[in-house]
Parts: sequence; structure tokens; C-alpha cells
Amino acid sequence: MSSYNFITESATGTETRINGKKYLYFAGTGYFQLNSHPEVIQAASEATLEFGIASATSRSISGTTPLLLEIEKSAAKFFDTEDAAYLPSGYLSNIAGLKALSDMDLYDVIFIDEGSHYCLTEGAMTVGKPIVSFKNRSLDDLRIKLEENLKPKQRPMIASDGMFPVWAKIAPLSDYLTLAEQYNGVIWIDDAHGVGILGENGKGSYEHAGLKSDRLYMGATLSKAFGAYGGIIPGKADFINRIKSGSVMTGSNAPMNAAVAAGIKGFELVKNNPMMREKLWENASYLKEGLKAIGIDTDDNSRPIVAFAPGDVANMTSIHQALMDEGIFIQFVKYRGSGSDGVLRIVVFSTHTRDQIDYLCHKLGSIELL
Ligand SMILES: Cc1ncc(COP(=O)(O)O)c(C=O)c1O
Repeated sequence: MSSYNFITESATGTETRINGKKYLYFAGTGYFQLNSHPEVIQAASEATLEFGIASATSRSISGTTPLLLEIEKSAAKFFDTEDAAYLPSGYLSNIAGLKALSDMDLYDVIFIDEGSHYCLTEGAMTVGKPIVSFKNRSLDDLRIKLEENLKPKQRPMIASDGMFPVWAKIAPLSDYLTLAEQYNGVIWIDDAHGVGILGENGKGSYEHAGLKSDRLYMGATLSKAFGAYGGIIPGKADFINRIKSGSVMTGSNAPMNAAVAAGIKGFELVKNNPMMREKLWENASYLKEGLKAIGIDTDDNSRPIVAFAPGDVANMTSIHQALMDEGIFIQFVKYRGSGSDGVLRIVVFSTHTRDQIDYLCHKLGSIELL
């Protein structure tokens, strides 16, 4: 399983051209297919024509464009926060966020879910405070680790993905928040996969869990549900000012104008079209019913990802290839949380039709290796 066995030769969507062939595509993270939405593409193109590729200087010098101000306003409006910071990537959002909270002296020790994304671990390492990892989504382990590692008056930062990318499990955020309150600490959520698709308004896993707290901080990406690119951190003005004056933002060029304009349009489309989210949830439930009917065990929820690991690498490679032979592309992926053999992973979009989902389930169900 090399990283670059598959070269994508078209925009990704329900149908995607890979290695010279068009596939029915159940992969990636373009949950609403906004990355190939005509209005998003038009916004990105117009921004490039008007402002060029990027301003070729950092924002703190003179690289801030009206588009950058606008996307931060859009994000603050979307998440209903005082302000927001837009960064070159979701990866960097996590590094910038953990550093800013450390500079604000809000925690002494970082407790990190061991299933969290690489960027959380790397962000934690840049801070220079003790790091303790706890078992994936395990409150019991977290409680023990808090007790064992915090000295009197020390405060924790509990850091975790909101929705874990491979298995689409959600972190027990409400319990994390309770524990953070108990120890006078904070929680940080990397909600790259949750924003846009979880919660009544798409604010992500904290909205899904019904949480609002001054102790809760988050960062996310616009490269998945929003069809764009770049990282976003919504929050209170003092925190956002820290992010904006921190090394990640002052030391980077202002992001590409096409990405910023795509993000503004992505926010607008997600905010104004809640039916996309409903359709996604509906499609996810429909997919899971179909997979259950052919004997694949799935969680009962409306999250748009199903991962399963039937057998060893050779068996999964054969299943993946058999589906490709039928014109269907799913993922055979090794990622944080997948285990060393990797998993087969199916992602459904709001734009898939029931016929397409039926076709996938029918073809998958007829593979004997399953
Ligand atoms: C959980 C998680 N966090 C962060 C990132 C990084 O986001 P970006 O691609 O915007 O750098 C990803 C992957 O894209 C991710 O899956």
C-alpha cells in the first residue's frame, strides 16, 4: 500500500477519475462535494484574478487582504464567536492553538488522546510542557492519568480530535469538559472532521454534544466539509489576538486568495443549506442499513464514514481491487487510528444517490472475501 498508487485526475465527487478510469467514488472528505461546486470554483477563480495568487508577505506586515478579513468574519458568524483566525492549514491551527493557550498560561500539563491526529501531538511538542497520553476515548484512563500527573494547583489541557477520522467515533467531550472544570483546566478539540457535518447548525462536535463553555477551545479545517482549504480557529477576541500575533501566523505568508474566497463561499453554502447536512445524515443511515444487510458491522449513527477490516492486508487489498474492477473506489487506508494493517473505509457524500449506494452495497456483498 504505497501512498501514491492512485493519482486523481479530476475534481473529486461522486464520480472521480483515478489512474485513467472513472470510478463511483466513496472516499475522501468532501462530504457535500463543495470542493467541485461551481460557485466555490467561481469565487476562487475571481479572487485569483483580482488579488493574484497570494500577497507574498505575512499578514502582520501588509499581507492582509479584504478577503482575509471577510473569511474571519464569516467564521465568527458561523460559530457565533467574538472573532476567528484563518490559517494556512488545519494542521497549523492545532499547533497555533495549543501554543496560544500556553502563552495565555491556561494550562500546565497536556493530556492527549492517543488516537488524536498527528498535528495535535506535534502541536503539544512545540509547547514545551509535559505531555501525557491517555487511551483512546477512555475516561477511566484519563481520570487515572490526571490524578497521577497533576501536582497540586496544576491545570490540565485535555486535547482530542472531536470526531476521529478513521472510525468516525466522537470523543466524550462533555466528560472531558467536566474533568477540565474539576481541575481548573481547558479542553482543545481538533474538529477537522466534525465541522460542517455535526450539530444542528454544523458547528461540529461541541454543538453535537450541546456544549458551550469558556474552557472549550477548538480548531478545524476548511478542506473537508467546506470544500475549500485552510484552518480556522473561532473564539473570544483575546484568544484570537494571541493566535494572530503568534509565530505560526506572523511567520507564514498570507494564505492563497483562491483558498480564502473558496472558504468564504463554503461558509455561505453550508450555513444557507442545512438540507445538505440532512441529506448527508440520511445517506449515511441508508449506507449503514445496506452494509448491515450484507453482514458488515457498523455503528448506528448518521456519520458519513464506515471503516472495517476484514482479514489481513492481502485480503483487504483483494477486496479493494475487486471493487475497483467493478468501477467503485473506496479507501484502503493506513492513518492515525487504523492499526498497522490499515482498514477499508467508505465515505458517503450528501450528493450520492440511493442507486449509487445500492450499487456499492450490492457489489461489495458479492465479494466472497468479505
Ligand atoms: C483530524 C485531522 N486534523 C487535522 C488535519 C489537517 O488539516 P489540513 O489538511 O487542513 O491541514 C486533518 C487532515 O486533513 C485531520 O484528519
